Amino acid sequence: MPKHLIAPSLLSCDFYNLTKDIELINTSEADWLHIDIMDGRFVPNISFGFPIMDAIKDHCNKVKDVHLMIVEPEKYLSRFRSSGADVITVHYEACTHLHRTIQQIKELGAMAGVALNPHTPVSSLYDVLEDIDLVLLMSVNPGFGGQKFIYRTLDKIETLKSEIISRNLNVKIEVDGGVGLQNAERILQAGADVLVAGNAVFGDPNPTKVISQLKQIGHNI
Ligand code: DX5
Ligand code: ZN
Repeated sequence: MPKHLIAPSLLSCDFYNLTKDIELINTSEADWLHIDIMDGRFVPNISFGFPIMDAIKDHCNKVKDVHLMIVEPEKYLSRFRSSGADVITVHYEACTHLHRTIQQIKELGAMAGVALNPHTPVSSLYDVLEDIDLVLLMSVNPGFGGQKFIYRTLDKIETLKSEIISRNLNVKIEVDGGVGLQNAERILQAGADVLVAGNAVFGDPNPTKVISQLKQIGHNI
């Protein structure tokens, strides 16, 4: 079984000392850097945008995994790509023409992901599963870090994993929200490939160690 990936979330970094946290991520066992973009419309919060992404673009040596919690994401895809996005994930709930938006992401040369809110069934993506590289399952309601993991997500991971395996596809399952050392093993056992962790990593006095511990979990699964 291929080893899972760890994606610490920039949202929980110290923005007064971003250089330090980016260097910490660079030298850690993290695989991806998860970048949460919030517009105050799709979600009830505003995070950050292009200036922050442009600032870290040439300094972060990890895969930049951009999670767009914004309405009309199709308007900004190319801008996010030029600001360094390697993975671009849009929300199913924010895309009227999801199939077209996925094609646009792929034409830009990025990996294409689609995120599902906790209430959205995984079967909503069955008609585009062949077209995407990643499904991001929200395990909290999007908008804020530090929330409690919704355990119903485990069933969603299992259902989606079976579907991916039965179709012999290479689609990653990313789980985002409330993930930490206390539940990571169960999430991986259910079939997750990528774990996002914000508060669990940066809320700890030793973020590098937590990243390493998350990476080691389920080594023999
Ligand atoms: C929430 C974001 C998450 C957030 C996760 O809307 O999508 O990526 O950073 O933070 P934690 O791990 O603290 O729940
Ligand atoms: Zn996210």
